Amino acid sequence: MLVLGIETSCDETSAAVVEDGRRILSNVVASQHEVHRPYGGIVPELASRAHLGKIGPIVDRALADAGLSLDDVHAVAVTQGPGLIGSLLVGVSFAKALAFAKNLPLVAVDHLEGHIRAAYLESEEPIPHPALSLVVSGGHTSLFLMSEEDSYELIGKTRDDAAGEAYDKVAKRLGLGYPGGPVLDRLAALGDPSVYRFSVPRFSDGSEDFSFSGLKSAVLRKIVETPVDPVAEGDDPTTRQDVCDLAAGFQRTVIECLVRRSETAAKRLHARAILVSGGVAANSELRTTFAALGLDLGIPVVLPRVSLSTDNAAMIAAAGYAKVSRNELSSMDLSADVELHLGEPLERRTTRYR
Ligand code: KG4
Ligand code: ZN
Repeated sequence: MLVLGIETSCDETSAAVVEDGRRILSNVVASQHEVHRPYGGIVPELASRAHLGKIGPIVDRALADAGLSLDDVHAVAVTQGPGLIGSLLVGVSFAKALAFAKNLPLVAVDHLEGHIRAAYLESEEPIPHPALSLVVSGGHTSLFLMSEEDSYELIGKTRDDAAGEAYDKVAKRLGLGYPGGPVLDRLAALGDPSVYRFSVPRFSDGSEDFSFSGLKSAVLRKIVETPVDPVAEGDDPTTRQDVCDLAAGFQRTVIECLVRRSETAAKRLHARAILVSGGVAANSELRTTFAALGLDLGIPVVLPRVSLSTDNAAMIAAAGYAKVSRNELSSMDLSADVELHLGEPLERRTTRYR
């Protein structure tokens, strides 16, 4: 079965064709980083407009790269949410139009489920369960227990900022532009994490939740108090040892939070595998630290390759395939939903978190 996936939840316009939920025939991602870089973060209205301009050509490219036409496709899968409402609506409307015109099944996919499916798409071996799945991106930092392949129980999430959001805000203040993750990743590798130390937040209730706003504020305060001058436009940040050291100290603490909480949860729940996905899973230090945790615990740690960690439509097509197989199809009434809560029990959907 050939599923066409469409992803427009944030600032990447992406389309992909995946066969039987496993074999990627094409995966085209058009980033809008240049559009948003001058603002140091995503401007929602500009994101929607950029999606509108790109969605048609990107879908055409994905079909052409796969050597297919729309007539060969068996289903259309699209990200329904969570994300930016205007951005999501572009993808959902486009997918509905395609499905209607070609009389194809339409499948709505939760963006987080898409990120998790990237691990299944990537893993050569079957993933043993129960598995622990960490989704760590610009909008989310959530830990799921998966007792089987399609079951998601939310066991921890950020109480404030997402990890990627903290990366983006720290980078913006240091004059490093948007997105912050890749550049701080590079600079951290040149820095000494012991120069600027930050503490890992702890919760007295013993929960597996995360928090990054305290760390972000501590780093921003350090920039002002030390002071660490922002990198001037056109300057090479790799020559700034203070910025590299700060990046290293910040990154070490983020990874410490992510890895230690995952380790505790994996032990408590007797997880037989750990999956790590989402844009921050592209981070090089995070990847080596999680790989080491897997060796320590004697269980596989699955980290999708970088191009499948950040937003892409192959993961949406793969998740869509699983839903078509379970006959979970959507009707033409489908609309975007910014408030999807994968695996979240009702009592946790409170303002305590947002
Ligand atoms: O999953 P994603 O592409 O979009 C969302 O669903 O949010 O994640 C984007 C986030 C951004 O905050 C970006 O700064 C971060 O992932 N990111 C990284 C790296 N590459 C992207 N963070 C740390 N290290 C990286 N190498
Ligand atoms: Zn994402």
